[in-house]
Amino acid sequence: MNRTHSCGVLRKGDTGKEVVLKGWVQKRRDHGGVIFIDLRDREGITQVVFNPGLSPDAHSKAKELRGEYVMAVKGTVTARPEGTVNENLGTGAIDVLAKELDILNEAKTPPFPIEDNVNIAEEVRLKYRYLDLRRPSLQAKMILRHNVMKTVRDYLSSVGFLEIETPFLTKSTPEGARDYLVPSRINLGKFYALPQSPQLFKQILMVAGYEKYFQIVRCFRDEDLRADRQPEFTQIDIEMSFIDREDIYSTMEWLFNEIWKKIKGIELKIPFPRLSYKDTMERFGNDKPDTRFGLELHDVGNILGESEFKVFSDAIKTGGKIAGINAEGCANFSRKEIDDLTDFVKIYNAKGLISFKVTDKEVSSSVTKFLKPEQLEKLKIAMGGKSGDLLLVVADQEKVVYDSLSNLRLKLGEKLKLIDKNKFNFLWVTDFPLLEYSPEEKRYMAMHHPFTSPRVEDIPLFDTDPSKILAKAYDLVLNGSEIGGGSIRIHKRDVQNKMFKILGLTEEDAQVKFGFLLEALEFGTPPHGGIAFGLDRIVMILTGAESIREVIAFPKTQKAICLMTDAPSLVDKTQLDELGIKLKPVGDK
Ligand code: AMO
Ligand code: AMP
Repeated sequence: MNRTHSCGVLRKGDTGKEVVLKGWVQKRRDHGGVIFIDLRDREGITQVVFNPGLSPDAHSKAKELRGEYVMAVKGTVTARPEGTVNENLGTGAIDVLAKELDILNEAKTPPFPIEDNVNIAEEVRLKYRYLDLRRPSLQAKMILRHNVMKTVRDYLSSVGFLEIETPFLTKSTPEGARDYLVPSRINLGKFYALPQSPQLFKQILMVAGYEKYFQIVRCFRDEDLRADRQPEFTQIDIEMSFIDREDIYSTMEWLFNEIWKKIKGIELKIPFPRLSYKDTMERFGNDKPDTRFGLELHDVGNILGESEFKVFSDAIKTGGKIAGINAEGCANFSRKEIDDLTDFVKIYNAKGLISFKVTDKEVSSSVTKFLKPEQLEKLKIAMGGKSGDLLLVVADQEKVVYDSLSNLRLKLGEKLKLIDKNKFNFLWVTDFPLLEYSPEEKRYMAMHHPFTSPRVEDIPLFDTDPSKILAKAYDLVLNGSEIGGGSIRIHKRDVQNKMFKILGLTEEDAQVKFGFLLEALEFGTPPHGGIAFGLDRIVMILTGAESIREVIAFPKTQKAICLMTDAPSLVDKTQLDELGIKLKPVGDK
């Protein structure tokens, strides 16, 4: 039997056609004589009817069918009788009246039903991922993911980009996470690293004159996993020559417009808004703000810092910060609700949360006795307080204030239902600092990576105040998720030397780590820059998935384990011997 249609396409207009369908048994119902089979493939479900009067052979074989059996059926499309049409099903207006049945394979009873909206432990789903992947909601996500990749390839190709592959077995690149290492058998004692990104190779492709490169590429990072992080994830990686930041912004905006048009039928508003890193931090407390709602931060250090309340005065004296959020209309929060919010900010190391209730008459708080009436009035004005509002304030070192308030902001946004799930708010965050001082290592570190270009006007600051240098670096943020990041690169050797010097890299270190890039840069490097997007995160947002594991066919758990294959696993001693590797007993340091 040759398949003629998928299980999702037949409609009333097909009535009378002879068809062959193939797929899995979703459900079997035996209605005293007549047997109904819901037959499923990746396109949908069609109801097949076995009538003993019509074809006794097929009917008696159909008695053997069970859930997830694989079958082929030949039959005739018939319109369903009035009143039995299923509006929820694309094929709900027809049945296929079976003439011939071929059972292609049997199946064990699956450990969970192959349908959506059932509650199954994630460990079980991941162990039997092939069954999980049969469920329509996951299939829809995989199909959407494919369509995003196809759109990216089509669009970038149409505007002159070439997809070029770069090696997986390579030298470590300076991306900042730990590398996954691969021992070399042929070069005993030496290791490859799986790439954290193709950063150095794509820059070398610019030296090689390819001008517009992209790659949909797997990247490997040994880091602590979260809801939006996997040890291997996919980037849409891009690099361009003879360009500056504006060219990157606009090319990428049109790329996203194309994706949203194809997937969601939405035209995006171009250009995307932009905010400097500094403004972003001050207004939202983090560098990936969800701009779908307000509740912005207010710095009130100059008002409360002078108070007699030690929490406030100490924060300012020790170089810290006092800031708050106006939870509009929340003056009626209960004691318990406020205590819960206080416990919440403590997760981010805040020592507490001070609340001020604004009414027609006054601003009340447990700390009013430490504050003068005019200070309370100024606080209210600074935070835009109106009668019925609740002002929530944290005093601490800047990092704690920002961490706790940015998370509190998100929590309140959810709690107060301020987040419109149908909105897509893109935002470029620009002008990141080039360097970050590490108190532990007592030296500057590159905030992005060591090849990120400073703004030209900031180059003299290398000799005076490196902390003030701003980079030609940018992130693309969507609804509070960092979906991409990149920079214009350094293409001049003297600037690169300044950068290495400030990072404490000797000429020798630099040669060992990325000598090949440095050498390449000597052979006529065009000005260039690029960006990489997290494909998994983009698909998460497009599908509304809560976890990155929902949009990856074979993901790993939080502990970086694949429950289906049981990787990572022990290997034979002979394999280790060949690699010259001797394991210490587990637990030994
Ligand atoms: P970066 O390290 O910012 O830049 O990575 C780019 C984007 O990749 C996504 N991402 C991840 N997604 C899932 N799991 C992870 N573990 C993970 N880590 C990162 C994020 C992030 O914005 N070579 C530079 C880019 C460049 O400069 O061109 C780079 O890799 O969405
Ligand atoms: P305490 O002095 O610890 O009894 O705290 C008095 C009030 O101040 C409580 O409501 C605490 O939650 C709050 N609080 C203490 N430390 C801070 C801080 N650093 N920032 C904001 N509120 C604080």
